[in-house]
Parts: sequence; C-alpha cells; structure tokens
Amino acid sequence: MERLVDRAYSSFGEEARRRGIDYSRSITATPVLETDGDRVLQVISNLLANAFRWTPDGGRVGVALSQVDGTIRIAVDDSGPGIPQEEQERIFRPFWSRDGQGTGLGLAIASELAAALGGEIELQTQAGKGSRFELVLPANRRV
Ligand SMILES: Nc1ncnc2c1ncn2[C@@H]1O[C@H](COP(=O)(O)OP(=O)(O)OP(=O)(O)O)[C@@H](O)[C@H]1O
Ligand SMILES: [Mg+2]
Repeated sequence: MERLVDRAYSSFGEEARRRGIDYSRSITATPVLETDGDRVLQVISNLLANAFRWTPDGGRVGVALSQVDGTIRIAVDDSGPGIPQEEQERIFRPFWSRDGQGTGLGLAIASELAAALGGEIELQTQAGKGSRFELVLPANRRV
C-alpha cells in the first residue's frame, strides 16, 4: 500500500509545485494487502485528481495512509470548496458533474471499484472548508 500511495502521490507533484499547492503525504502504517493494486491505484489517483481539480492555487492537498482496527484507510484531503449537503449523494452517481466539464463518471467508478475491492469510499466535507474522501479497505480478506 505504501508503494501505491507513493506512486499516486508522485504523479501530482509537478502540478502541486506549479500551482503553489501545499502537498503532503503521511504514512502511519505500512500494510500489505492481497488485492488488485491497479484498481487501488486507480481509485487513489481519481480522488487526487478531483482534489487538485477543485482546490484553488495556493491551497492544500494531502494523502494519508493509515490502519485503524480492521481497516486500511487512504484519505485524500483538500482545502477546496467542499460539497453542500444536498450534493453529497449525487456526486457518486454516474454523469453528475457540478460544472459539466468532466464526465461525472470519476466518483461513480471509484465507488464501484471500492465496493468490488470489499470496501467503500467515505466522505467528510464542509462547504467552504474542504473535503476528505477516504478509501476504506478491509485489512483482512473477507470470505
Ligand atoms: N474534492 C472535491 N471537492 C469538491 N467537489 C468535488 C470533489 N470531488 C468531487 N467533487 C464534486 O463531485 C462531482 C463528481 O465528481 P466526479 O469525479 O464523479 O466527476 P468529475 O470530476 O466532474 O468528472 P471526471 O471525473 O469525469 O473528470 C464533481 O463535479 C464535483 O462537483
Ligand atoms: Mg473526477
């Protein structure tokens, strides 16, 4: 998991520098998972792409890997606009995009992938303050 997080993290380093975004990475556990690494990378990259898309220049984006009880958590935090309560379900539906600039498929695919990997995506957000999208995976394979 650490390698996957590092790989996703590195791929946005140049954009962060160019846009003056305070970009950090935190690793507080180094779990090893039997899973589909490409799909995990896809989800993390998608959450990071959204964080960078919605965070203004000079803002803050962070990615954090941790292990809590039976779960492995990869959190992507941003200091973007946040998501109002009434949109918080809608954003996970296919083809819903606030500005119509994207396909609106990113989060729909990410949450289906998270479910297929035995986990889910959790959202904590405050309008005007920022968002935290967290990929939560079971630390042990569920049979
Ligand atoms: N980090 C974020 N901060 C604020 N709003 C977000 C964030 N991530 C997603 N959203 C909201 O959720 C909507 C859906 O996101 P999703 O990734 O599914 O589609 P998209 O980013 O608009 O399009 P695509 O991923 O195809 O480029 C976005 O249009 C935006 O309104
Ligand atoms: Mg997106």
